[in-house]
Amino acid sequence: MLSTLLVVSMARQAASVGDRPSAAVIERCRAIYQGSCATCHGVRGEGEGPGWKTPNADGAYPAPPHDSTGHTWHHADRLLFEIVKDGGARYNSPTFQSRMPAWGATLSDDDIRAVLAYIKTLWGPSERDAQRDLTERSPR
Ligand code: HEC
Repeated sequence: MLSTLLVVSMARQAASVGDRPSAAVIERCRAIYQGSCATCHGVRGEGEGPGWKTPNADGAYPAPPHDSTGHTWHHADRLLFEIVKDGGARYNSPTFQSRMPAWGATLSDDDIRAVLAYIKTLWGPSERDAQRDLTERSPR
């Protein structure tokens, strides 16, 4: 119970402190990322290699990087939250099959905010500024 409360309060803090979470909060957020996301998106957010914009032979795409070289920072907070919670299946079509799992049954909303706070620590200052502006200007 205590640990649950601690995690929830740290994740809330992560959500509210935006780009400058404390070291303890970053560690909690990092643990979620390394436990659930790093297998595909890479331990340093490097993704599944430089060819992430080109589909594999089966038509699915490699996992994109979450660092500054990717385009995660081109999306506002709300859309990032939805992609993590609901997964990529909503974008499936005859020519595209998403490999991005839905995390809504595994991670709480606070966990999702926490992991997104961690991903933001992988960006440089200009990507963080651009994504913050986008989030402020756009509901999605
Ligand atoms: C099984 C591999 C896999 C795992 C595990 C995974 N992802 Fe993904 N993710 C992908 C793929 C592949 C895409 C690219 C688009 C697609 O195929 O839908 C993606 C796309 C995304 C995007 C959109 C990125 C963009 O630039 O538009 C976000 C955000 C994301 N993932 C976050 C996460 C988070 C956070 C976790 C852990 C909680 C996670 N992913 C775990 C495979 C994975």
